[in-house]
Amino acid sequence: MYDRFNRKINYLRISVTDRCNLRCVYCMPAEGVELMHHNDILRFDEIIDTIKFAVSRGVDKVRITGGEPLVKRGIVDLVGMIAKIEGIKDFGMTTNGILLDKYAQDLADAGLHRVNISLDTVKPDKYHQITRLGDINQVFKGIEAAKNAGLTPIKINCVVKKSSDEPDAKGVTQFCKDNNLQIRYINEMNLETGSFSVVDGGTGGNCSICNRLRLTANGDIMPCLFSDLRFNVRELGIEKAFELALSRKPKSGHVAKKSQFYSVGG
Ligand code: 5AD
Ligand code: SF4
Repeated sequence: MYDRFNRKINYLRISVTDRCNLRCVYCMPAEGVELMHHNDILRFDEIIDTIKFAVSRGVDKVRITGGEPLVKRGIVDLVGMIAKIEGIKDFGMTTNGILLDKYAQDLADAGLHRVNISLDTVKPDKYHQITRLGDINQVFKGIEAAKNAGLTPIKINCVVKKSSDEPDAKGVTQFCKDNNLQIRYINEMNLETGSFSVVDGGTGGNCSICNRLRLTANGDIMPCLFSDLRFNVRELGIEKAFELALSRKPKSGHVAKKSQFYSVGG
């Protein structure tokens, strides 16, 4: 698929739930959020049909996100169903890692290729402060489990305020060196004010070469993280939703007043 600026779209990011087992300060309020209604959430067969359509139009890279994808009931089954779709060359998941110790081997067996894991500090108390709920030792165990299961190369997403020179980021950098992990620094973004920047070591945030579309848990195709445009596959049908998302994908992102990270998956 090509959009109207001739950008080749080959990457679909799929948010499977807006729920999360953490409450990171830059993502969610402490008390949690108003969640999507159960009836609005796509069933697995609808997710699969949407991915199949996208793959038939040239998508070969798929990433599962959340919220936290591993709190989604049946996630291993869903991963297995996606892995069976022919034509996907790169199949990843972005997770906070808390439940990876439990699921890494099952995910690998189901056909997932690799994981990106969020980690902004290596200090247990600071980690608990940032995530409000998380035990960093579970993430460390999760990273080990992902390695052992062969969900590699593992990338670590490290959210920074301004730069990778900050003490927490430096700690994560050293941790990644010691443990043979790739690191990507993500500047803390604000969707409402439209402050975003390129992901250091990744491809996000670089509008002129943006190759992605997003599918939210309730079936909206989002052409751009920094835009409120959404086209629902249930309302419009899959083909029409993609057609509109492609034809309206902005040249560059601005602001997104109606989006939150926990429902679009970063
Ligand atoms: N700015 C930048 N990244 C964010 N994420 C969540 N909220 C923000 C934000 N405000 C990131 C998480 C994770 C990915 C899914 O999105 O840290 O790495
Ligand atoms: Fe693409 Fe929008 Fe992200 Fe820019 S902000 S890189 S246009 S998705």
